[in-house]
Amino acid sequence: MDIILLGTAAGGGFPQWNCACRPCRAARHDPAAARPRTQSSVAVSADGERWFLINASPDVRSQLALIPGAAPRPSRDLPVEGVLLTDAEIDHTLGLLLLREGRRLPVAASPVVGRILERGGGVLPTVRAFADVPFTPLPPGATVELRDRNGDALGLTVEAFAVAGGPPRFAPDAPHDGAVTGLLVSDGRASCACVPGCGALDARTTAHLAGADLILFDGTFWADDELQSLGYGTRTARAMGHLPISGADGSLASLAALKRRAVYLHINNTNPILLEDSPERRAVAGEGLTVGADGMRFSL
Ligand code: MLT
Ligand code: MN
Ligand code: ZN
Repeated sequence: MDIILLGTAAGGGFPQWNCACRPCRAARHDPAAARPRTQSSVAVSADGERWFLINASPDVRSQLALIPGAAPRPSRDLPVEGVLLTDAEIDHTLGLLLLREGRRLPVAASPVVGRILERGGGVLPTVRAFADVPFTPLPPGATVELRDRNGDALGLTVEAFAVAGGPPRFAPDAPHDGAVTGLLVSDGRASCACVPGCGALDARTTAHLAGADLILFDGTFWADDELQSLGYGTRTARAMGHLPISGADGSLASLAALKRRAVYLHINNTNPILLEDSPERRAVAGEGLTVGADGMRFSL
């Protein structure tokens, strides 16, 4: 199985267009000190030719160019077989609108995510004015086989699992359970858990990660009070559905204990791990974890 990190920043990208925090200034003026990153998205394939996206970011247009074999075709079809979604957040779904010229745009996500995106005026009805958009529900706990545009098996299965988190701010009345998921993608030999948003590493979530050969995990914030301490917000990381990396009960300690290959992605622009030469970056590396960057590839 091949995995490409297409985008490793959280919503807003890195540097974020309206931000002058320390990492954003570094990324703007000295990219060697902090590599710029596009918004959260991953590509996965069993054969290196037919790919699925995990999430469709606002940067999808440039991200597709990172996928070998996702070259435009004379038919003008979508150059990938479809899109899996972990949640309905704007940074993970706005790209669906930008792919509308692809004529046929298969989307798969948990039923709750589907319902949020199907609402009147929402993303899916909007894209359907331009393209055929079949939706495959991924009920948490069910293993679903992925198929290509001809209906042939891709050699990949996916299981969505609900994680701690809530619906997007634009859908406050949607159910919490199933609004944010991780995805376990397997080719029968190896598996990758992709969890770009996760509010807690509870036993249920940890059980899903423990057997994965590669864990792509929520690296949004280093500290729980990161936005508050910078004066950028009032809510904690946890209240926003993102378990911070640091601390005794942060994700770094818990993931290191699993002894799996683990990579942070969906990294917010304020997070000091984005600075190549920061103590926080060294702390992540010291535990054997990787700070994700755009274009990183993994073969399992
Ligand atoms: C998140 O990751 O929490 C969301 O993408 C935030 C947002 O887009 O407002
Ligand atoms: Mn996000
Ligand atoms: Zn910033």
